[in-house]
Amino acid sequence: MVSVLFVCLGNICRSPMAEAVFRHMVKEEGLEDRIRVDSAGTGDWHTGEPPHHGTRRILKQYGIPHEGIRARQVKKQDLEDFDYIIAMDDNNLSYLRRMAERNHQRLYRLTDFIPDTTYREVPDPYYTGNFEEVYELVSAGCRGLLERIKEEQGWK
Ligand code: 4NP
Repeated sequence: MVSVLFVCLGNICRSPMAEAVFRHMVKEEGLEDRIRVDSAGTGDWHTGEPPHHGTRRILKQYGIPHEGIRARQVKKQDLEDFDYIIAMDDNNLSYLRRMAERNHQRLYRLTDFIPDTTYREVPDPYYTGNFEEVYELVSAGCRGLLERIKEEQGWK
């Protein structure tokens, strides 16, 4: 089983959107028994909450389920438990690197998986209000990530 954890700040906007989008893609490809998907936040303010209404609205618009997703804070054990840990921005990545204390081989930015993008970070829609921009980056990043996993696992 390959495991993927998406990480943002609050775990109510960007990373739960990525969790829902990626899980949907994985299911469409019939890989749900082979890939486990989760998300978490570096902050703990929203623990137990469902995704932000902006994230819920955009997922609904694109026909992607999000039932059952609840916010939680990332913990040290996650760094051991997950094969691919995908940060939404540089602050999230620095937080994870500090938490890891040593060189961690499986930390990435979502934008690492988007070919030819000018974006390095996924802008935080909690402040920008632009959930459509996030959806476009998240879907492109998730597509690239899934292709990478399939290559690395020899599934293609
Ligand atoms: P997210 O957005 O990291 O994409 O979930 C945020 C959500 C909540 C807060 C910040 C960012 N907050 O400060 O409560």
